[in-house]
Formats: sequence, C-alpha cells, structure tokens
Amino acid sequence: MSGFLPYGRQTIEDDDIAAVAEALRADFLTTGPTVEAFETAFRQKVGAQHAIAVSNGTATLHLAMIALGVGEGDVCIAPSVTFLATANCARYAGAEVVFADVDPDSGLMTPDTLADALARAGDRRVRAVLPVHLRGDVCDLPALKAMASAAGAVLVEDAPHALGSVATFGNEAHPVGDCAYSAFASFSFHPVKTLATGEGGMLTTNDAALAAKARSLRGHGMVRPAGAEPWVYEMPELGFNYRIPDVLCALGISQLAKLDRFVERRRSLTARYQALLAPLSPLVRLAAGPSWSDPALHLLTALIDFEAAMTTRAAVVESLKAQGIGTQVHYIPVHRQPYYVNRYGLADLPGADAWYGRCLTLPLYPAMADEDPERVVEALARALGV
Ligand SMILES: Cc1ncc(COP(=O)(O)O)c(C=O)c1O
Repeated sequence: MSGFLPYGRQTIEDDDIAAVAEALRADFLTTGPTVEAFETAFRQKVGAQHAIAVSNGTATLHLAMIALGVGEGDVCIAPSVTFLATANCARYAGAEVVFADVDPDSGLMTPDTLADALARAGDRRVRAVLPVHLRGDVCDLPALKAMASAAGAVLVEDAPHALGSVATFGNEAHPVGDCAYSAFASFSFHPVKTLATGEGGMLTTNDAALAAKARSLRGHGMVRPAGAEPWVYEMPELGFNYRIPDVLCALGISQLAKLDRFVERRRSLTARYQALLAPLSPLVRLAAGPSWSDPALHLLTALIDFEAAMTTRAAVVESLKAQGIGTQVHYIPVHRQPYYVNRYGLADLPGADAWYGRCLTLPLYPAMADEDPERVVEALARALGV
C-alpha cells in the first residue's frame, strides 16, 4: 500500500518556502508592507473593493459582527451544518443564534430553510444571516439577500470552503468573495483550505466604512487622527489583536499566485471521483450542488446509505483507515452541540440530521496523484462490501 491519504492537506512548494524565508530576512515579522500587499492581491483576485487580512477565519467573523454593530438583543441566523465558528461569532458579540436547517442533499441553507429560521426568530431583531458555502458550493445568494433585507438584516458569507468558486446568477458570474450580495465575505487559510497560511483569514467587503471599522478593530480599535503628531493614536472603541504576521502574508501571496492551478486540480480530481463513484449509486452519491454554482470544491463529501449497505459509518471509517484512506465528517450539526442545546433546547432540523447521518468526506487536495481517486473508491467499495 502506498502512503496514507488524509482527507485534505496543504500544498507547500519550494517557492512558498523561499517567499517565507525572504520575509524572515526582511524588517517586519508582524505588521509590515506584505500584509497590505496580500490584501490587495486577494481583493483583486475575488473582485472586492476592500480586503482585511486577519489572524484566522474565526476572527474575521467576530470582526464582521462587531463592525456591523451586532450585539445583545440581536439574533443571527446560521446553518446548523457548518464549523462551530459560524454560530460562535454571534455569541462572542452577545447576540443569540437561530439555527437554519439545510438541504439534505447539498448541505446548504436555502430560501425555504431561511424562511423557517426567520419564522422561529419571531419578532426578535435579526441583524445578520450567515450563509455557508459548504464544501465549495455556493448558496442562493440573491434569494437569501432579498429575504434578509426584508427582515432588516444583512448577509455575511462564511466562505472558507469556496475560495475559487464562481456562481452565475442571471447572466452575471460572481467569484465568491466579491460581496455582490453581502456586507462581508469571510475566508480562512487553515492548512486544509484551498489556500494555506497555517493560521490566517481574510474579510472582503465593498463598504468603505465597514472596511475601515474592521481594520481598526483588528488592531485594538486604534486609529491615527489626521493631522496629529506622528506618535498619536486614539482608541475610540474597543478592539482586539487579530493581526496576521507579515511572514504568513508572504506565504499567502505566494499561494494566491497558484490559486488557479489549485482550483483546476481540485476540479479535475472531482470529475474523476464523479466518474468512479457513479457505479456505486444510489448507495453512494456525491453531495449535490445547485445549478448556479461552479465550485472549486474544498471538501469531497459523499452521502452514503450505510443502512442499505448493512454497515455503519464507524465501520466504514475504520476500514478505510486500515486501507490508508483518511476521512472526516463535515459536520456534526452545531444545533446539537451541548452548549447550544443547554442554551436553546434541541431544535428540530431534519435536513441537518439527514445530512449528518450520511455524510463522509473523502480525500481531495491538489497534491493527490492521478490514480489516488481510484484507490479511494476501490477502498470505499471494499469497505461497503459492494
Ligand atoms: C465554515 C467555516 N467557518 C469558519 C471557520 C474558521 O476558520 P479558522 O479555523 O481559520 O478560525 C472554518 C475553518 O475551519 C470553516 O470551515
């Protein structure tokens, strides 16, 4: 058996290492000119007017909440199938979370599941709706935005899975991150993501005032008043240390230059998986994306009918591990986490539960060999006894 295949991993090449080494020899370890250079390159790539580089993806979401003025007495709506951070950011700001259900085949928040969540929010003040482009497939942003606006809320796209994805609404193609429908879009550069800096994140927005606010909140809320002496700073509001080091931004710039290649590779590996998995249908299907979404998949999530295969997910995960294949479950529905059950009781979200019952993420990352998808699918077929 050749090497172990994790479900995801970074692609770090010699020129990435050289870029970091060069940054280490420069004057700044923390905030220097490379931070702004990374922000500029990133916002140009996704087509947004402003980008703010931050210490991690969770911090981007927290900054977005505070910049929008979300606080106590407010409600934010997050899908239950996501990473914890999507919901937690509302709680950091003092707001309450109403969990939206998801479509069981795509894992995405939809207009129907948002309508249901808005109804459950009742007459409370909904300030932000946080669609998650799960796996890389893009939510129905025009419809979600119209519904959020009607409720007096804005969209904050939690988009770490979808860097490089494009959605076509009407005749317009929108790269994820262009914020055509949202106040902010948020990205993470955690190693399994499409672009890796280790820890790191980016907020994009087209609103200059929101950008300025997020930027100052990233550095303790400090601003330099125009015309004042060079040492003068003021703190008109309470901020945080959510800075990202120059060194990591050097890695980010180097990685961003390869984004198109990474995305292409993810797309061709996905196409290979699609062909190889077809004979295992209906026992195994890939999660289904909506028609407007052209994803750069971050996660290759299969939906498996374990019961029909007369097995369990635990047994399949163990068998795959023994065959050298890593898997992961994205995600345990957040509304079922003890913290949220203690706070809100257990909401009835059948789509999220159905998704959780069937999902299993298989290896997908650019450095996989051409023959690896075949190895994974053969191992999966063995694990399912088909
Ligand atoms: C959907 C989603 N939101 C938020 C985050 C938080 O990002 P980070 O781990 O960089 O804080 C992640 C990454 O793990 C994520 O997948």
